[in-house]
Amino acid sequence: MNQINEEYIEDYIRSLLPDNNTNLKIMEKYAEENHVPIVQPEVAQLLKVLLKLKNPKNILEVGTAIGYSALLMAEYTGNYCNITTVERRSDMIDLAKENISKTIYKDRIKILQGEAEEVLLILDEKYDFIFLDAAKGQYMDFFNKCIKFLEPGGIIVSDNVLYKAWLPQIL
Ligand SMILES: C[S@@+](CC[C@H](N)C(=O)[O-])C[C@H]1O[C@@H](n2cnc3c(N)ncnc32)[C@H](O)[C@@H]1O
Repeated sequence: MNQINEEYIEDYIRSLLPDNNTNLKIMEKYAEENHVPIVQPEVAQLLKVLLKLKNPKNILEVGTAIGYSALLMAEYTGNYCNITTVERRSDMIDLAKENISKTIYKDRIKILQGEAEEVLLILDEKYDFIFLDAAKGQYMDFFNKCIKFLEPGGIIVSDNVLYKAWLPQIL
């Protein structure tokens, strides 16, 4: 159990979710086998709903890993929507680039390499959707930096705020 919900509730929710496309499924398998933390199915579903409602034009993601959530967000937004995603690990960036290059979304996703706390100081664009999914202990710092880039009416989503109910340790 993830310590926030009962396991049977999680199982039930997951039994209702539609399958992702083959490319995303291959990435899910890779992530599971190689212990790469990607968004959980419920989070992916929430992102899809929020993206459909918001219809953003410019997305910023902090925490690329293998590019799974960036591709998911590309799939659920229109062709006019660009995604900038920040990652510090070059091995992850190589995998993300490989995964993204195989898709029709390759021209819409830009990866910036570096420590997010530094990269976020030099960005000069505005974003209408921001997804924080990197080092949990730095979320408040990331949030405070990102809020300056958020368009009026924009949305910031932070993954894992209640991660395994470890909130007291995070704060
Ligand atoms: C949970 S994974 C991201 C998963 C991805 N969003 C997905 O669902 O496909 C977190 C990633 O953030 C990166 N990361 C952690 N702290 C970072 C930082 N301060 N700056 C940049 N990247 C960071 C890690 O290297 C890791 O690849």
